[in-house]
Amino acid sequence: MLRRSRKNFLTIFSESAFNYELMSLQVLNRRIFICNSPDTVRHAFVAENAHFERKAPQMRNALKPLLGDGLFISDGETWRSRRRIVGPIVHGARLPQFAPIMVEAALETCNRWADRPRIDALAEMAHLTAEIICRTIFGRSLGHEKAGEIVEGFSDYQRSVGQVDVLSLLGMPEWFPRLHGPAIHRSVRRITAILDGIIEACDSAPDRADSVIGMLLDSTDEHGGRLPRDAVRNEAAVIFMAGHETTANCLAWTWYLLSQAPDVEARLHAELAAVLDGRAPNQADLPALVYTRAVIEESLRLYPPVPLLAREALVDEKLRSREVRAGSLVIVVPWLLHRHRKHWENPDHFMPERFMPGAPTPDKHVYVPFSVGPRVCAGLSFGLTEAVLCLAVLAQSFRLRLEPGAVIEPVCRLTLRPGDSVPMTVERRK
Ligand code: HEM
Repeated sequence: MLRRSRKNFLTIFSESAFNYELMSLQVLNRRIFICNSPDTVRHAFVAENAHFERKAPQMRNALKPLLGDGLFISDGETWRSRRRIVGPIVHGARLPQFAPIMVEAALETCNRWADRPRIDALAEMAHLTAEIICRTIFGRSLGHEKAGEIVEGFSDYQRSVGQVDVLSLLGMPEWFPRLHGPAIHRSVRRITAILDGIIEACDSAPDRADSVIGMLLDSTDEHGGRLPRDAVRNEAAVIFMAGHETTANCLAWTWYLLSQAPDVEARLHAELAAVLDGRAPNQADLPALVYTRAVIEESLRLYPPVPLLAREALVDEKLRSREVRAGSLVIVVPWLLHRHRKHWENPDHFMPERFMPGAPTPDKHVYVPFSVGPRVCAGLSFGLTEAVLCLAVLAQSFRLRLEPGAVIEPVCRLTLRPGDSVPMTVERRK
């Protein structure tokens, strides 16, 4: 199992895993439970969330050098206090500020594609979402100027952590040495220096108040205290990490799916023509772009960018009638739930219609691309809006076709990627 999971974690699941409701397995010295039904997901992530709110220790160890006490890997009082601060800063209510940045960066991508017959859709979407998240966090001009440096810093970290395969990561002893090598410390020093420099510059930038950094610098905790500088840096790193690759993968998968489904693509184009008639979209268009949003939601179902949500049981607990000892790992696997044979009709088919108004709403414990419960993605509206607006801008001007012979397979690391690249030809639409 470990050998197979090292190649691709998803291949450890056989067809029957898409039917089971609660699974349990022993990996090395650790018992792992997989919640694969609405009641078990609800129990662990919503009703008894306090008993399962801590991220799996190996995940925390892998990310701690980079994120410090950032909310993504913290729990207890630190998580609650940070979530109160960060939540409102990336909340949907801020979208009037952020949506124009999304459209502006997508239009720049159109210009970049104008004379390119071929692209790697994965790299292009990573570039686009990095521009958006950097301009959001650091302000339009600083973010644009520094995006390349920041992306390179984070990629360097990922390289030095190594291509950690998920299953052995979950089963490894917590002291596993690979995660504490000198390369990691070098890489962290590099990111810290980049981020500290940007935070310093941001502090006196003219658009300070519009950037996430500016808002973090101005925020106060429940006792009225300001966030220390290293906490500002940690939360900026969290938002970059959480908001960059996830949306990039979602968009890359969406281009792949559209290239395989001409009927869906035609309906998408028809909606874009009817609602936008060739102009750039804005936030006010979102309620009318129902099919565009359904395409994104269906893409998130088939290829959830975060395919696995891992927690540690903090106390002795139960799942259904099974004893869950404190220290066990409890996992929700959107990859399985989103294709569960009991909960979806034609589970492996790409059918955006299931998310259209009038269709039955999926159970919120079975459709969990953004997780569920108190630790739900803080950037849910941000990510969804970003994906819809970027798709609307780009699909109005271009149709992407998978290069003949290219085979795209899901590869699960910490996010679900369409391999290392998605080679596509670019056709300009009339
Ligand atoms: C399609 C895009 C996105 C997807 C699918 C996604 C998915 C998720 C998921 C599943 C989690 C929970 C992870 C876990 O429990 O282990 C999460 C957490 C988080 N996400 Fe997102 N995300 C997306 C975009 C974004 C964006 C754009 C931002 C910021 C602007 C963001 C900020 C966060 C933060 C701060 C957390 C940590 C929340 C906490 O622990 O309280 N995400 N995301």
